[in-house]
Amino acid sequence: MLVLGIESSCDETSVAIVKDGKEVLCNVINSQIDIHKLFGGVVPEIASRHHVYQISMVFEEAFKQANVKPEDIDLVAVTKGPGLIGSLLVGVNAAKTFALTYNKPLIGVHHLAGHIYANAIEHDMKFPAVALLVSGGNTELIYMQDHFRFEVIGQTLDDAVGEAYDKVARVIGLSYPGGPIVDKLAHEGNDTYHLPRVYLDDNSYNFSFSGLKSAVINLVHNANQRGEEINRENLCCSFQASVCEVLVNKTLKLAKEKNVKQVIVAGGVSANRGLKELFTAQKGNLEVCIPSIKYCTDNAAMIAVAGYYQYQTNHKLDDLSLNAYASLELEEMYEI
Ligand code: KG4
Repeated sequence: MLVLGIESSCDETSVAIVKDGKEVLCNVINSQIDIHKLFGGVVPEIASRHHVYQISMVFEEAFKQANVKPEDIDLVAVTKGPGLIGSLLVGVNAAKTFALTYNKPLIGVHHLAGHIYANAIEHDMKFPAVALLVSGGNTELIYMQDHFRFEVIGQTLDDAVGEAYDKVARVIGLSYPGGPIVDKLAHEGNDTYHLPRVYLDDNSYNFSFSGLKSAVINLVHNANQRGEEINRENLCCSFQASVCEVLVNKTLKLAKEKNVKQVIVAGGVSANRGLKELFTAQKGNLEVCIPSIKYCTDNAAMIAVAGYYQYQTNHKLDDLSLNAYASLELEEMYEI
């Protein structure tokens, strides 16, 4: 079964073709990072315009790389939300146009389900599972009894972890997106600033990162006022140590409580080296799956794979009235 995946929820225009939910024939990603870098973050209007410029070329390139004809596609899977509405609409309309032109079945996919199912490319998913979803817009701990049975057990009460990374990066003068640079500097420093581990020992599975972010901002401002130098490597290391300790600790605690067969780490921040290292050190016998970096950040292969399993699980398709949604709850979309 050949699935055409389309992803345009934020600042990546991506088209992929995946065979049988596993074999990625192509995964073309046109990133707008260099454009948004000038503004220190994603500008929604610019993002949607850029998707419009790029989408046809990305489609053409995908079919060329996969050496597949449009007639060969069996299913069209597209991100329908959540995300930037103008950006999402470009992908959804491209998917509907393709489905109508070539008379192909169409399926709308939740962006976060895409991140979770990115893991199915390189690992076999096993249930029950716990998924830690960490991206620029989300931080959630999700229990999965089976395919597409999502139960959100905990989430951030304020900033998403990727957002906190990007804000901390900006305060210490690093460019956008700051997450990967903070991660790199963290490996060149030591945890000397001893930042708080927020909610580490509470009884919930919720997270909070805005207090930690404020602690970093205050530290930098106070040092500036006193004319003192901040050691960026040590500050990045201290910030990362605090974030990773809370994320890993809560995830493994929930995994043990639910007696799961697998832990899935998903979303852009799953590319973080510190997070991988801490999971590896603390997981014991638990299987912890983290996608390769190319499948961690936004890409259409993960949407094609999620679409494949979504179809296999319930055979429900969308018609041409499919719409895009800026907000979309994972649990509600896949309610059984
Ligand atoms: O999942 P994603 O590509 O986009 C969405 O938010 O949907 O995640 C992007 C986020 C950004 O905040 C970026 O800074 C962060 O993932 N990120 C990282 C790393 N690579 C990307 N954060 C920490 N360490 C990394 N290595």
